[in-house]
Amino acid sequence: MDQELSGKIALVTGASRGIGAATAIALANHGASRVILHFNSYKTGVEQVLACVERAGAKAQAIQADLGDEAGIQSFLKALENSGAAINILVNNAGSLVERAKLAEFTPELFDRVMNLNMKSAWFITQAVARHMIANNGGSIVNVSSIAARNGGGIGATVYAAAKAAISAMTKGLAKELAPQGIRVNAVSPGTVDNNFHVQFSNREILKTVVSATPAGRLGTNEDVAETVVFLCSEAARYIHGQTIEINGGMFMV
Ligand SMILES: NC(=O)c1ccc[n+]([C@@H]2O[C@H](COP(=O)([O-])OP(=O)(O)OC[C@H]3O[C@@H](n4cnc5c(N)ncnc54)[C@H](OP(=O)(O)O)[C@@H]3O)[C@@H](O)[C@H]2O)c1
Repeated sequence: MDQELSGKIALVTGASRGIGAATAIALANHGASRVILHFNSYKTGVEQVLACVERAGAKAQAIQADLGDEAGIQSFLKALENSGAAINILVNNAGSLVERAKLAEFTPELFDRVMNLNMKSAWFITQAVARHMIANNGGSIVNVSSIAARNGGGIGATVYAAAKAAISAMTKGLAKELAPQGIRVNAVSPGTVDNNFHVQFSNREILKTVVSATPAGRLGTNEDVAETVVFLCSEAARYIHGQTIEINGGMFMV
């Protein structure tokens, strides 16, 4: 699968760190010729990823946008259009719990922010990118769901979990709609990946409990997920449509 993605143009959202950063670098390492890196707040991170992508031999470009609100989604779509890139590979990865809040504490503003970031932005970015994929008779889209879509998420993460369940459902619906145009739509569903996400929203005690409940005996890595995304975008996955691949060390088996 070495240079399997040779000549492909990829867009990875949330590519400034974590799973998105590892995915952008992995796509370049597997031959992608150009990678567009979306980020929000972590400019230093995206600059480092951009340098890694270029070292792997691909062209790279970073676009900033807060995908948690409508204005940010629209500004990203405009910048993407201005880039002129006809994307072959789209990885809808940007996402966050935003903040833990139980039912009684949840405001309409927080609800909209969680849904905009984790669901609405992925839908409208896909709409924009699919136009080019249809014109080019093909493409691959990988959405990043979560184990939360299966188990409802931890306390205070219910709306995030619902957004991720929507991502898994959207993956199936769009897989059916776009397959006749040569576009494959799939998703990856990480369990607990040891990165900034859990610096923000967990603690070491919770993570120790997760490890003890995980048959593989460790947390996931960004690369565990990134390599699965590369596989889903490759010719080896040519007959895989509408699937959500669980990547969780056996912690949750479907
Ligand atoms: N880590 C896990 O255990 C885990 C498990 C299941 C699913 N996931 C999913 O995996 C995906 C990647 O997360 P990660 O684990 O790599 O976490 P991460 O290291 O915190 O990275 C999150 C990425 O999303 C971007 N992002 C966050 N809020 C944003 C906003 N308002 N607008 C635009 N972009 C925003 C961040 O951009 P900046 O840093 O530039 O602000 C960053 O690039 C997410 O969809 C997450 O829900 C993670």
